[in-house]
Amino acid sequence: MKYFIVTYGCQMNVHESEKIAGILEKMGYALADTREEADVIVFNTCAIREGAEDRVFGNVGNLKKLKKKKKDLIIIVCGCMTQKSQTAQKLLNTFPFVDIVIGTFNLSKIGYYIEAVKKGRQLEIFDEGEIDESLPYKRTSGENAWVNIMQGCNNFCTYCIVPYVRGREKSRKHENILQEIKEIVKEGKYKKITLLGQNVNSYGKDNKDEISFSELLREICKIDGDFTLSFMTSHPKDLTDDVIDAVAEEDKIEKYIHLPAQSGNDRILKLMNRSYTREKYLSIIKKIREKIPNCRITSDFIVGFPTESEDEFNDTMSLVAEVKYDSIFAFMYSPREGTVASKMDGQIDESVKKTRVNKLLKLEKQLQKERINGN
Ligand code: 5AD
Ligand code: SF4
Repeated sequence: MKYFIVTYGCQMNVHESEKIAGILEKMGYALADTREEADVIVFNTCAIREGAEDRVFGNVGNLKKLKKKKKDLIIIVCGCMTQKSQTAQKLLNTFPFVDIVIGTFNLSKIGYYIEAVKKGRQLEIFDEGEIDESLPYKRTSGENAWVNIMQGCNNFCTYCIVPYVRGREKSRKHENILQEIKEIVKEGKYKKITLLGQNVNSYGKDNKDEISFSELLREICKIDGDFTLSFMTSHPKDLTDDVIDAVAEEDKIEKYIHLPAQSGNDRILKLMNRSYTREKYLSIIKKIREKIPNCRITSDFIVGFPTESEDEFNDTMSLVAEVKYDSIFAFMYSPREGTVASKMDGQIDESVKKTRVNKLLKLEKQLQKERINGN
């Protein structure tokens, strides 16, 4: 029996697919080279932008023929997109040949659902569940081992679907994280450990007895072994001095911070509910550069947020030019049903968004060239 997993979206999803693979292998499935060979096909989906969802619909649709040929094939769609019950319903209505549709909260029970489907039930399940610490990961990212430290997000940036599909922040116990990392280091295969969370800087804040993120970093660095430590993603409002100090002082921590700014304009930042101003953001960058002179800094930006004027977009351009990032990701704003921003007046034309994203990417390319030439 073989399985095939198609993963969309962020590192969190990549890592969750490693858990799905671990569960399937424990059940006796082996990795298939192609989807045609597989007895179980899993789509682990992303909901962050419309494009990601469109691709899932296209790719699941393409399996109709295969399913006709291979009646016992089990097709599973899971992840952020299917956590939204409307999308899950639409998926089941459009593709009745899909066997299992589950959200983000009960991935750990995927084995149980497969057994249920074999007995002839189609399943759609959304109830909240806990990540089962006892289930294995099948690590697939070469020398890098991902370690999830927390689930969910409490920030509710007005454009973002994540808090709706991943729930509130929930930190793993630091003892479990340290134990997992000790085991990874003992295996000796991994040179790099990357901690994952939507907002790693608020690690521990959901539990008064838990240690802070900087304390967690320091504890991990005490583990004997030859590895570098990295983390993502940081929210500028929560990136405190103690974390910057830990990055500066601990040899094992990679000198790299991904610090999404999203916009360089204060009015737009406020509408986005980002809780910082351009000035505050720049002061954090300054602090990082002072304390960690060789630190690589990267960022995410959204262009064409509702009501964004040309001048306000130019504030984003000037922020990028001023910070001189090592690299940036630029996205066209994509309205996500259920979020505050999707209901705002003043939605921007796709053509304007496209022009703006191209301008920003052109600037990024130019800055990169200057960096390479040492200007
Ligand atoms: N539209 C466009 N980009 C988005 N992001 C999050 N939500 C949206 C959206 N609705 C971007 C942000 C975030 C990155 C992971 O995806 O820049 O940092
Ligand atoms: Fe989304 Fe904002 Fe949470 Fe990041 S911090 S996951 S952008 S709501």
